Amino acid sequence: MSASHKSSHSQWSSKIGFLMAAVGSAVGLGSIWKFPYMTGDSGGSAFVIVFIISIALIGFPVLVTEWLIGRRGQSNPAASFRKAAIANNTSPAWSILGYSGILAAFMILSFYSVIGGWSLNYTAKAGMNAFAGLNGDATGAIFTDMLASPMEMTIWHTIFMGLTAFIIANGVSSGIEKASKILMPALAIILLFIVGYNAVNMEFAKGVAFLFKFDLARMQEVGVGKVLMAALGHAFFCLSLGMAIMVSYGSYLKEDVDLLSTARTVIIWDIIFSLAAGLAIFPILFSNNLDPAAVPGLVFVTLPIAFGQMGFGVVVGTLFFLLLTFAALTSSISILEPIVEFLEERTPMSRKVCTIVGALATWAVGILALLSFNELKDFAVFTIVKGGKEIPQGIFDALDYISSKIMLPITGLGTIILMGWFMNQQAIKDELGMSDTAWSIWQIIVKFIAPIGIVAVFLTELLG
Ligand code: TRP
Repeated sequence: MSASHKSSHSQWSSKIGFLMAAVGSAVGLGSIWKFPYMTGDSGGSAFVIVFIISIALIGFPVLVTEWLIGRRGQSNPAASFRKAAIANNTSPAWSILGYSGILAAFMILSFYSVIGGWSLNYTAKAGMNAFAGLNGDATGAIFTDMLASPMEMTIWHTIFMGLTAFIIANGVSSGIEKASKILMPALAIILLFIVGYNAVNMEFAKGVAFLFKFDLARMQEVGVGKVLMAALGHAFFCLSLGMAIMVSYGSYLKEDVDLLSTARTVIIWDIIFSLAAGLAIFPILFSNNLDPAAVPGLVFVTLPIAFGQMGFGVVVGTLFFLLLTFAALTSSISILEPIVEFLEERTPMSRKVCTIVGALATWAVGILALLSFNELKDFAVFTIVKGGKEIPQGIFDALDYISSKIMLPITGLGTIILMGWFMNQQAIKDELGMSDTAWSIWQIIVKFIAPIGIVAVFLTELLG
């Protein structure tokens, strides 16, 4: 039950290291293939404004709450929630939020590593000029051939999980923090390079227009309610909330870190990276007369056509997939961390052994997930009904559905309710160092707006 076998709880060695790790967690596959398209398709900068408001109302308060509970607990997420509850004279059963977060992280990591593997695989393919001169049918065939091959996917999934585990095994400051300090600047440099290349060689203006044009008419066309829900949903998911990650990252934080300003910085960088990803993708698509879309097919099928046709396509293509891999890796390590922190504190095993156990278990579920594209293709865990249509959910889809659509929002909702309604408010106000005005606004957001927003996201994701 206790962490007594550990001499002391780990700490981030620097604020900048923690910041990079948190931004690295947020900027992931979702930010690169979903956000840019969502923006371009839902009103450009008008959408960006809606998104910023959404993130202020939902993402921001939940992020701050997760860090605060983690920092106070200085323990794994389940124990931190338990401590927060007990210290505030409420039921220790709130620790269920820690368990559900860890379980969601486990489920997400299993399929996330499979996609991380695709990304590594495509880095190698791009490097070997495998897309040269191909049309859409041919790049589509490369993708479907990969999905049809358990062997090919297993190899890359294994390498990706191995990399994730290697970083995590090294601990918080010499693992996560060190890796983030290398990978995040590398990510920024690659991104700048591709955007720069696009500015010179591609139809940059078209890409900029798609992404930034203030287009209220387009937003109304898609439906303001729908756009709002999408923005709220992404504001929650993109910050890696509801999956114990930020509670775990918070548990390595010192008292002197200003949670409010750090959360603001993480959010600003997440938006900058996501928008820059759009500037890396859309000009290339538009210059090659290709259509954007918000599906994995965008990066794994459509973009390779362009890489195979454009000048320096090998270089730009390889760098692009490397960028995607780095983004996935800094997120996957953050997803493994709460699992390992939990095992470390609950078992006598060393961090290295805990990492191997955690990674192996997720890896094994990942194998089941990748088999659902081939050998287990016809096996559905359950069927969901969407828009009157029955959609069977294979293992991969089911893991995603149960974790992201159900567990994450419920855990996030519980977290914000615990903070707003059950914890000592004066102590939180002092800890966050808020002025009276800021505090009044915060209270309204935390007590009412954020919970209602999360419920709305949950219901639209579930029923929509
Ligand atoms: N924020 C990361 C990303 O955009 C990781 C992440 C958070 C995630 N929540 C998720 C991944 C839900 C899959 C599903 O990729």
